[in-house]
Amino acid sequence: MSIAVFASGSGSNFQALVEASRSKGWPEPIRLLVCDRPGAGVLERAEKLGVPSLLVDPKRFASKDEYEAEILSRLRREGIRRLILAGYMRLIGPTLLDAYRWRIVNIHPSLLPAFPGKDAVGQALDYGVKWTGVTVHFVDEGMDTGPIIAQEPVRVDEGDDRASLTRKIQAVEHRLYPAVILDWISGRIKEPAGR
Ligand code: GRF
Repeated sequence: MSIAVFASGSGSNFQALVEASRSKGWPEPIRLLVCDRPGAGVLERAEKLGVPSLLVDPKRFASKDEYEAEILSRLRREGIRRLILAGYMRLIGPTLLDAYRWRIVNIHPSLLPAFPGKDAVGQALDYGVKWTGVTVHFVDEGMDTGPIIAQEPVRVDEGDDRASLTRKIQAVEHRLYPAVILDWISGRIKEPAGR
């Protein structure tokens, strides 16, 4: 029983998760990084951390189903039991959702349901909110719509810009995500009922 992390970007959350997973008392290892973007920084981090990676470029496939089927066959071969999305910039389709129902979680840099989708930090700054934050949630078919597991607020200070607000949000993410995942894999978080 093990975990795969899906990421498309720089991979700072991936790294925080892998480091946490190597501490004592962490019950399920992170065995695989799945990445959809050639050249993404997360691939280099995986190599440095000694985590095997699977790079699957969706452009090589005629459909999302075929793309996800390719990933799914590797996940099955590796005995992967849960999927953690950490800056994976794609909607999960029916192939993976059906295989991993309520066994996929995501982190999003806002207090959902505010500012779903891309550029949540920019959306928060444009709107002028005084508080934004971080949400960890189960993944369903929608865009950042699944049942919420945990949230933590982050204050937007006078003079904050995209860079400074992103830094504050990421500092929270790197602490909150490993803590929530540990609760989840330790059986302290219940699957959503009746959805
Ligand atoms: C994070 O802010 C996460 O909330 C969002 O994408 C970003 C990924 O950053 N889904 P990183 O690649 O982990 O540095």
